[in-house]
Amino acid sequence: MDREAAPPTLFAPSGPLRGTIHVPGDKSISHRALMLSALAVGRSRIAGLLEGEDVLATAGALRAMGAGVARTADGAWEVDGVGVGGLVQPASALDMGNSGTSARLLMGLVASHPITAAFTGDASLSRRPMNRVIEPLSLMGAEFTASPGGALPLMMRGLCPAVPLTYRLPVPSAQVKSAILLAGLNTPGVTRVVESVPTRDHSERMLRGFGAELWIEERQGGAREIALRGEAELRPQSLTVPGDPSSAAFPLVAALLVPGSDVTVKGVGVNPTRAGLFAVLRAMGADLTFANEREVGGEPVADVTARHSVLRGLEVPPDLAPSMIDEYPILFVAAALAEGRTVARGLAELRIKESDRLAAMAEGLRRLGARVEELEDGLAIDGSGAEPLTWNERTPEIAARLDHRIAMSFAVAGLAAHGGVRVDDIGPVGTSFPGFAALLAELGAEVR
Ligand code: S3P
Repeated sequence: MDREAAPPTLFAPSGPLRGTIHVPGDKSISHRALMLSALAVGRSRIAGLLEGEDVLATAGALRAMGAGVARTADGAWEVDGVGVGGLVQPASALDMGNSGTSARLLMGLVASHPITAAFTGDASLSRRPMNRVIEPLSLMGAEFTASPGGALPLMMRGLCPAVPLTYRLPVPSAQVKSAILLAGLNTPGVTRVVESVPTRDHSERMLRGFGAELWIEERQGGAREIALRGEAELRPQSLTVPGDPSSAAFPLVAALLVPGSDVTVKGVGVNPTRAGLFAVLRAMGADLTFANEREVGGEPVADVTARHSVLRGLEVPPDLAPSMIDEYPILFVAAALAEGRTVARGLAELRIKESDRLAAMAEGLRRLGARVEELEDGLAIDGSGAEPLTWNERTPEIAARLDHRIAMSFAVAGLAAHGGVRVDDIGPVGTSFPGFAALLAELGAEVR
């Protein structure tokens, strides 16, 4: 699934951003909707599915393992599920492209099926650690032969019936939690995951929605134990995927930074386990409001409006990290234009995302003239006090490092920088936010 590099794209200031838009469906929820539909007995229907490359990688893998996955004429997706335990041996390697979520969650599914499968991915994904899922899934009985360091490409063999497990997450990771719960679906008995900090709970909500027996026990200090009874039977569903808050973050922060802007993104997921960025931006002084709060597909949703605001730096509470883990790159851009100092720590996980996001943001923001100190587990940024960036070079070209969120963060930075910013390759944006550049242009940004 290697894509061709796109030519460098210029993002430059051109007056206020205004308009009401939708962003594509939530990436995390889209992966889960396809996977649970593939394991239900019968036909599910998914509206608002993210049609980004990451989610299409999941769709392709599920098809290769026997599920029917097709887009209908009205843009919804229909999935003919094979039932829990019904996945079949794929005929060739499963290509996960750039998608860590596809790789880790699908390994969970394969772990408790009598299937041998090879997992491959692009250069960025092949550098990311898989030991965090290999370890618990091995305890359940799956066998792995991975590349050095526990990386892709790897070969795995599932065990059926697998052995139920009680597992305490060593790192807060919704992907690891979800991989274990998905493996638990076809495992007799009760599979338990304990997390000391709550991570995104889309899997739990959706498993219940599909009829799985799942309990959650809140423990002291915010810890949670999630228990799932296998072998589960899932009922097909008709569901709608909310807009992705991690994608909405880019046009919303752009509106906060560009004078005179007023942008509304409709139908954005505001699940509290994902909404950390909104809380931090408000604490920085952002004019950010929710309207029309409602529930869609078992998830809280709102229309979110951002108006230009002068932001103040702050210390970002480290315990918010899991609820905004993908939003730090764009928060760092906001911090670079705020008044005063922003310090964010406890972010070692950012070094092993699609790129080393701490290094990528520190390097790129410095090229734009921002004052950034790179810490082992975070960044400290002295903001410009709402002065546009770029006094080192006229229009710097920033390396997106095969990372969609780095590309989009510097695109937004370009709207608040003298002379704009060139992003070397916005191709990876297609993994999570197809149409991103066109949408920014529609709001009034200069994109060339
Ligand atoms: C995701 C969980 C997060 C996040 C990723 C999607 C998910 O990763 O960074 O983009 O869908 O479960 P971790 O669980 O590894 O923190």
